[in-house]
Amino acid sequence: MKEPASAAPRMLSHDLPVSAEFETFMAGDWAATPLPADIRPAVAELTPARRARLSARFPGERLIVPAGELKVRSNDCDHRFRPHSAYAWLTGLTGEEQAGHVLVLEPHGPHRHEAVLYVRPRSPRTDSGFYQDRRYGEFWVGRRPDLAEAERMTGLRCARLDAYGRVPPGRDATDDAELASVLSELRLVKDAWEVGQLQLAVDHTAAGFEDVVRALPRALAHPRGERWIEGVFGLRARAEGNGTGYETIAASGAHACVLHWIRNDGPLDARQLLLLDAGVETDSLYTADITRTLPLSGRFSSVQRQVYDLVLAAQDAGIAALRPGARFRDFHRAAMRVIAQGLTEWGVLKSPEGDRHRRYTLCGSGHMLGLDLHDCAQARAESYPDGVLEEGQVLTVEPGLYLQPDDETLPAELRGIGIRIEDDLVVTADGARLMSGALPRTPDAIEAWMGALIDG
Ligand code: GLY
Ligand code: MN
Repeated sequence: MKEPASAAPRMLSHDLPVSAEFETFMAGDWAATPLPADIRPAVAELTPARRARLSARFPGERLIVPAGELKVRSNDCDHRFRPHSAYAWLTGLTGEEQAGHVLVLEPHGPHRHEAVLYVRPRSPRTDSGFYQDRRYGEFWVGRRPDLAEAERMTGLRCARLDAYGRVPPGRDATDDAELASVLSELRLVKDAWEVGQLQLAVDHTAAGFEDVVRALPRALAHPRGERWIEGVFGLRARAEGNGTGYETIAASGAHACVLHWIRNDGPLDARQLLLLDAGVETDSLYTADITRTLPLSGRFSSVQRQVYDLVLAAQDAGIAALRPGARFRDFHRAAMRVIAQGLTEWGVLKSPEGDRHRRYTLCGSGHMLGLDLHDCAQARAESYPDGVLEEGQVLTVEPGLYLQPDDETLPAELRGIGIRIEDDLVVTADGARLMSGALPRTPDAIEAWMGALIDG
């Protein structure tokens, strides 16, 4: 996982050669531009306790948690960088300039570790990289902290990334299953600051959904209305936070029967529904994950309402099953009992028993939510999917019905309808608090909300 100690500055064939005189000229006459004294973010006060909990699980072992590397998107253009969630959680560092950095917990005696952060510091003006290096140079991608500033920012001992090449091997979070699993489990219960960040993500997401509803007349007129919607939500996500926490699903009509429809290249039809599954990721990298299924005309047809009401009843049953000590799978089972019963009453199933209802629901009804969309995914089965809920966990409840357009087990009027309702909740001492209650859930409330936003 180690990167070459000192990669040459990235330049391209069309970059102009540099004369010795120019190089000398560029090396001088720059004013000092120190970062402000108070650059330590609030989260830096929380990270020592997080690292201490990790340290206690691996006494005497060297632990390596890389931020990750830049990935080429095309030729010399990289994807936007987002640090690995475990790195962000342990350091509080979330910016694009973290690419290539590595946190090492160095064992100090049998019972503790010293954290050392290996960083690529700001290049001195005596080194041409600051104006020549397209990938990391300050005049190409922006200022980065020098070592002293990085220490002030993080409260960690910082060392140059070049020196990371001399660090002996250790357990690496990117390829050590046990370390990855412990890191996932340590993140299962959110602290108050994390719940606050998730609420912020949810609130920005609610604003993005309102933007989309206001933009529906314009989107309906566009030949790729789904893309228009993706763009409108993306504007809110990028303006308020780091961006979207995952690719927006803007699925009109039967596209909603494709669980992760992210092609978003279809038109909108006012007689159909729009399934919008989207989340804003905060600058601190916590993401919301909300789905609403909306009638594009502003009014549900009776058959759309019938399907919607069943999914809503399933979601209500799932939410009612959330409490500390309940098994994680209980809320899914509660939601599925309602769905199977409803499908039986419609005559689609002969009986609610067994698992035939899964033809129409396809996936689980929710997941942990946090720095990752599907958070804590490396946790052991006994502490997450087969475990019990704990106060402070944040999760989604998102049952759906996906009635495929070519499904001959279904009456014609139901075919091509896809409905998911997804909310974000935090488990409390005696139940769960709905974090996404700013967005309407019932058909009547959705119609009133859409009417007010479009006509109001
Ligand atoms: N909302 C996307 C997902 O949960 O997979
Ligand atoms: Mn989800």
